[in-house]
Amino acid sequence: MKSVLFSRFFILLPWILIVIIMLDVDTRRPAPPLTPRPYFSPYVMGRGGARLPLRRVGPAGRRWVKRNESRPQPQPRPEPPLPTIYAITPTYSRPVQKAELTRLANTFRQVAQLHWILVEDAVARSELVSRFLARAGLPSTHLHVPTPRRYKRPGLPRATEQRNAGLAWLRQRHQHQRAQPGVLFFADDDNTYSLELFQEMRTTRKVSVWPVGLVGGRRYERPLVENGKVVGWYTGWRADRPFAIDMAGFAVSLQVILSNPKAVFKRRGSQPGMQESDFLKQITTVEELEPKANNCTKVLVWHTRTEKVNLANEPKYHLDTVKIEV
Ligand code: UGA
Ligand code: MN
Repeated sequence: MKSVLFSRFFILLPWILIVIIMLDVDTRRPAPPLTPRPYFSPYVMGRGGARLPLRRVGPAGRRWVKRNESRPQPQPRPEPPLPTIYAITPTYSRPVQKAELTRLANTFRQVAQLHWILVEDAVARSELVSRFLARAGLPSTHLHVPTPRRYKRPGLPRATEQRNAGLAWLRQRHQHQRAQPGVLFFADDDNTYSLELFQEMRTTRKVSVWPVGLVGGRRYERPLVENGKVVGWYTGWRADRPFAIDMAGFAVSLQVILSNPKAVFKRRGSQPGMQESDFLKQITTVEELEPKANNCTKVLVWHTRTEKVNLANEPKYHLDTVKIEV
């Protein structure tokens, strides 16, 4: 009897073992997911576990793309187009011109989607500026218009004709097409601009304003802001101006420039220092202004002025045998 039981047990034993192994294997298999695969797979995790953007071009990203080739990719929502910043710069020939333009181009080259409108105060486009622009690596337009001799006097506003030429070009360029989002500002060639300024001005809806450093006989001038609105001006000079602000202290949306086709800088009746007010009066009101730079409490642009260079020794000695552009 005992031996029969034993023999039966040994016959059944391998089958029992097979069944146990099979059950074990089946429970180790991962359960089918209840939810679809997460948007980010572990392959796009950085070393610290941080999520990397899907469009990453680094090796980790590429590996992920390969492994998931067959799966339909969730389409990222298209970004709205970045408004183009149009910078109108009047410029005139003098010993420091190329140095000023070099500093300006070095700044502008770091700003996305910027179009430089360089307007020479001259009867023709100069070779120096043409050559410079060709090598500047910036989307640009090169214009010229001379200031009439009678207006080239100390105490009279500068660059009126050049800024108007820039405005005319902008209006003409956009006359037939629906205006793409854009922002215009007047960038004199000798000022100093922080990169943060461009981030601030890019969100201009109509007309935006911010402080300007080293101007008006003070460390800075600024619009005074209460509850998000401009209510006055902190300035050391002619506080009675309707817009007591320097040319470097505001930006205007392209839409506003196009819907006010007659707004220009005026020679007639314009007093020194009133150009900004005369222009802004035509397109906006103080109540409408959009304060930037943390409610106008940060200086992001400086009205720097370059010292006149001393060339007293130029005529003294023999001239160099080669001609070098400076
Ligand atoms: C101040 C303001 O910041 C300027 O925006 C304003 O045009 C000027 O006063 C004015 O009196 O009209 P300021 O530093 O005194 O500026 O002027 P500049 O820097 O000498 O000239 C302003 C711009 O006009 C510069 O980009 C300069 O290159 C250009 N400019 C100047 C000319 O195109 N032609 C000139 O004969 C003189
Ligand atoms: Mn200046």
